[in-house]
Amino acid sequence: MDGVAPRRAPMPRGPLSGRRTPLRRALAMLCGAGNRLLDHLPGSHWLHRRIHRRLEFTALDLPLRPGAIGLDGLRIAFISDVHAGSFLGVDDLTRLFERVQATAPDLVLFGGDLINTREREILLFERPLQVLRPRYGMFAVPGNHDHFFGPDIGLWRAFLERCGVRVLDNAGVRIAHGGGSLWLCGVDDLTEGAPDLARALHGRREQEPAILLSHHPDFFFEAAAVDVDLQLSGHTHGGQIRLGGVAPIHHSRFGYERGWFVANGCKLYVGRGVGVTVLPLRIDAAPEIPIVTVRNPVPAAAPRMRSGAAVPAAMLAAPDADQSAHPAPLP
Ligand SMILES: [Fe+2]
Repeated sequence: MDGVAPRRAPMPRGPLSGRRTPLRRALAMLCGAGNRLLDHLPGSHWLHRRIHRRLEFTALDLPLRPGAIGLDGLRIAFISDVHAGSFLGVDDLTRLFERVQATAPDLVLFGGDLINTREREILLFERPLQVLRPRYGMFAVPGNHDHFFGPDIGLWRAFLERCGVRVLDNAGVRIAHGGGSLWLCGVDDLTEGAPDLARALHGRREQEPAILLSHHPDFFFEAAAVDVDLQLSGHTHGGQIRLGGVAPIHHSRFGYERGWFVANGCKLYVGRGVGVTVLPLRIDAAPEIPIVTVRNPVPAAAPRMRSGAAVPAAMLAAPDADQSAHPAPLP
């Protein structure tokens, strides 16, 4: 697609984000070891099962841009931050994916961090993936954990592709439905990979609706400048542990913690994800699998800026209502 703005998502800051440094690597290894230790303690799996009883399948509507046709009713299941391996095994994943399949999705999208602390944890997905049968296929992007806990991401990628999950790291694909089409694309992880939005959008037709997968929500800074209809992200776990409505540990430089955000007519939804990191605890951040239903455009849709136009800074990062708590219409 022409007109990709040269704007680049700024790198998140802090010891839990940004580029891989010796300090960050040591911290991550320490957390990983702690996770594996907790995984063996009695009570951890019980705690995690209690978390999963609160899993929400959040129904979301996505009205498309004016002029979009034929996609009405397309259903997308968005699974992110599974963090398999600690607290979640093959049987848990199988039951989880059976519930996803019961929602009859047309597409199943994985938003990264499938594994937690070991490269081989991706092998846990072999049997569970067999219960998913979306008619237009399964797609995935890598998250920071998928990159971090292995010498490279080769095994992760090869395994998923062998299981029928297409990896969209800086790539896109056209999904045809009901006489219309959608450009489904994904970028590599912002902190551990090399996201390239221009490559992800290469092949998109002019004014074709687009849905972008990016594990890290802060990539919305870049995506909102190029007229994508929706970015789906995870990474934050909705805060995972929130005390008094505030998460002590932040994973988004822009405050994209959970729910809907809008900029330049483009939408971002940050899912709370499925699993946990470090502690088998979630407080005020129930796990979530959003089920997005695409809708034909409403007649009074707000005008959009031209493709590639710069986004005024003031339009960015205005958090919208958390739709899981307030099932209001989309912004
Ligand atoms: Fe992540």
